[in-house]
Amino acid sequence: EEEEGESSAESELEEAPVAKRVEATEGMAPAHLPPTLSGAGGQSPVPSNPAGTPAAPSAPPVTASALARPPAKPAIFIPVNRSPEMQEERLKLPILAEEQVIMEAVAEHPIVIVCGETGSGKTTQVPQFLYEAGYSSDNSIIGVTEPRRVAAVAMSQRVAKEMNLSPRVVSYQIRYEGNVTEETRIKFMTDGVLLKEIQKDFLLLKYKVLIIDEAHERSVYTDILIGLLSRIVCLRAKRHLPLKLLIMSATLRVEDFTQNQRLFAQPPPVIKVESRQFPVTVHFNKRTPLEDYSGECFRKVCKIHRMLPAGGILVFLTGQAEVHALCRRLRRAFPLARHRLPGNPKPKPLAQEAGGGQPGLQSFPQKSRPFTLPQISLDNYSVLPVGEGDEDREAEMDEEEEALGSDLDLDLGDDGADGGEQPDASIPLHVLPLYSLLAPEKQAQVFQPPPEGTRLCVVATNVAETSLTIPGIKYVVDCGKVKKRHYDRVTGVSSFRVTWVSQASADQRAGRAGRTEPGHCYRLYSSAVFEDFEKFPPPEITRRPVEDLILQMKALNIEKVINFPFPTPPSIEALIAAEELLIALGALQAPPKTERMKQLQRSRLSCPITVLGRTMATFPVAPRYAKMLALSRQHGCLPYAITIVAAMTVRELFEELDRPAASDEELAKLKGKRARVAQMKRIWAGQGASLKLGDLMVLLGAVGACEYSGCSLQFCEANGLRYKAMMEIRRLRGQLTTAVNAVCPEAGLFVDPKMQPPSESQVTYLRQIVTAGLGDHLARRVQSEDLLDEKWKNAYKTPLLDEPVFIHPSSVLFKELPDFVVYQEIVETTKMYMKGVSTVEVQWIPVLLPSYCQFDKPLEEPPPTYCPEKGRVQCHQAICVFWADPCAPDRVGW
Ligand code: CDP
Ligand code: MG
Repeated sequence: EEEEGESSAESELEEAPVAKRVEATEGMAPAHLPPTLSGAGGQSPVPSNPAGTPAAPSAPPVTASALARPPAKPAIFIPVNRSPEMQEERLKLPILAEEQVIMEAVAEHPIVIVCGETGSGKTTQVPQFLYEAGYSSDNSIIGVTEPRRVAAVAMSQRVAKEMNLSPRVVSYQIRYEGNVTEETRIKFMTDGVLLKEIQKDFLLLKYKVLIIDEAHERSVYTDILIGLLSRIVCLRAKRHLPLKLLIMSATLRVEDFTQNQRLFAQPPPVIKVESRQFPVTVHFNKRTPLEDYSGECFRKVCKIHRMLPAGGILVFLTGQAEVHALCRRLRRAFPLARHRLPGNPKPKPLAQEAGGGQPGLQSFPQKSRPFTLPQISLDNYSVLPVGEGDEDREAEMDEEEEALGSDLDLDLGDDGADGGEQPDASIPLHVLPLYSLLAPEKQAQVFQPPPEGTRLCVVATNVAETSLTIPGIKYVVDCGKVKKRHYDRVTGVSSFRVTWVSQASADQRAGRAGRTEPGHCYRLYSSAVFEDFEKFPPPEITRRPVEDLILQMKALNIEKVINFPFPTPPSIEALIAAEELLIALGALQAPPKTERMKQLQRSRLSCPITVLGRTMATFPVAPRYAKMLALSRQHGCLPYAITIVAAMTVRELFEELDRPAASDEELAKLKGKRARVAQMKRIWAGQGASLKLGDLMVLLGAVGACEYSGCSLQFCEANGLRYKAMMEIRRLRGQLTTAVNAVCPEAGLFVDPKMQPPSESQVTYLRQIVTAGLGDHLARRVQSEDLLDEKWKNAYKTPLLDEPVFIHPSSVLFKELPDFVVYQEIVETTKMYMKGVSTVEVQWIPVLLPSYCQFDKPLEEPPPTYCPEKGRVQCHQAICVFWADPCAPDRVGW
């Protein structure tokens, strides 16, 4: 759920077939039809407004007389062969009642907004309406974007099934995979995929209609797409190749789209779909919310299952790990094991699952010179079997809960005591996880009816809030939290944080219980807490750094980003920060010196993209890391740079070992493991040049050693590595290699998980590459002779922070204290700590990072260049002046 919509380098590769004029639909349009007619705005192949027959404004939809007219322009109706059961199910959906209204609005307006409760049928039905009305004739495609991969896959499958069409016709494309063919007529994709397509074909000629679904989620890519499409629709109209745009939202809050003059000069019509929603009784917790909301969810589900009448349960948690933990506990409490169910296959052992489905990542022949493998005796170190500690604790808690039993207060609500069938406490619970990164076939299970004699319980992340409607849910258990990326302005570092949801989200979640009959929602927080929630979640674009978006937009030749019609614009500070970082990385052209004044920059923000920037824009990683990849095409550095970037992108490679221990025994185990991890880090960091690459060398060494060991769970466990992180790195390495090969086929990289360690000179290049990418994260050691204040002992100074920062104790450079370092991130605990630290040679700075230096003499023209043959920088005669020392403000350093 964290990575949805991230842009992908592997979007559609097929070229758009040049769309013919719309009026040529079905090849039956009379040749004499004046082409100008198609530009009239109302042009559409919809029966209610046949082309070439200027319809009266009030012309009814398909009427007998319209059909009886000689076929100047036939009414188009593409028949769909649905099964009678499917048709019957469809007819129950509220949106079916609005088909005419929607289709007329689409015919008459280039842009239409459709609002309707989740489950009213927007996503599954509107593409079918459009298909039947001929919007995919002439080999064009009906495109539907989703902010989440799960939804793109699930919805394409559902619509194919409803329409009785093959996945070759109703297809999907997401970041890693897709099944689009020449025959595709309806294409579901993530919003990131469509954004990439715009880079290849700005007019999106292969589409006659685009649906931006889940617009209420306000994902950054959705926002940007709406901004871009508002312009593309105009451009297409000018070329007489009209493009229809539908924006679909689950909430009525669409003012950001309708009331935004810059976005749409004419506010588009909003069609509201009334939906049948059964009443949902909301039960708040009386007590103040617990820290352990997972445990509270468990207790609540147990109570519902034991005491309340039949009906599916949907639990909202915040992340994949929590979802799995709760599923495990519930399965143990209400086991299914007695009868293994079809569609619930025996889980594969993790190690096996890991390698599967990764083209290019099968095992490769071992090479001669492996990474340093652990040489430490395991005799006096007891290795914890996987997850044992946790499960023990959980088992204990389970027992405790069994004992507590009916003491737990469960508000049964109004119809709780209506004499409904008393559930047999021993009936099995059919527990299914649901989150974005779950394999599609496992996701699809939630739409199947649960096996006879069981109750469905879906444990989901936010993905079940609006994107997917699970049939048969009567009870919702809402932990009230959501995991969100948090961006810290000072350190520029983003992290995932669990926060309270908004009131709108909580209500959406509750609504899931009332789809098929009256339901109940159990909120694991008090109503007072709910009152304090924000009304609506703020759009993502206002909460995160935008340098990646700005780079993508510049790659689309949108130079004056500030003029872009964002539905909600990011702050001007965020735009300036992004533009300055991109200039420093060389992705944008710096404005001429005469214009360098801040003032001018502020007012313009219109630097064009460079060749380097275009290359960087094709990599699906943040610009700092993209810069590293773009610089690595020398001296065989690419595989290493790819690995380092993948490992830095996947956060927290190492297990958390600083957690408090429950017992002396556990403490001893933890200590043992900490010592071992520290030792392994030193081994992986190596000596000399390699140690100077610091923590990034540790990442490289850890991945190298892990892959050499076959990336086994045992290896990870024994060395304190997170197995899941290692798997994710593997997948990302594959993806980045594909992206690099696409930019630079001559590199001919292939993914060999078992790398040789880099040579000493390669390590030096890698250090320079890292310096160039992380340049704005440069820190300078405060010299001891300057010390006036104890708090600066062993401290570093960074350009932006006034406070001292320190190398984190977990860093292999903690005791080395190099003069200059670059860091991946700063975390603030007791002090400001730098993590992911790597050493920088001072003479590299004016060459690799001139924009972070002030020079006391003007720079030579042309600026000094790095000389790879000599391995070092050509020394530069100008003396660069770094930022002032904290303790001696008048002194210039160096
Ligand atoms: O997009 P919106 O939330 O308005 O509704 P939808 O996703 O089109 O879902 C319409 C109906 O189809 C819901 O009642 C779902 O339960 C059902 N559906 C289903 O049964 N199986 C799927 N794979 C997807 C949807
Ligand atoms: Mg939907």
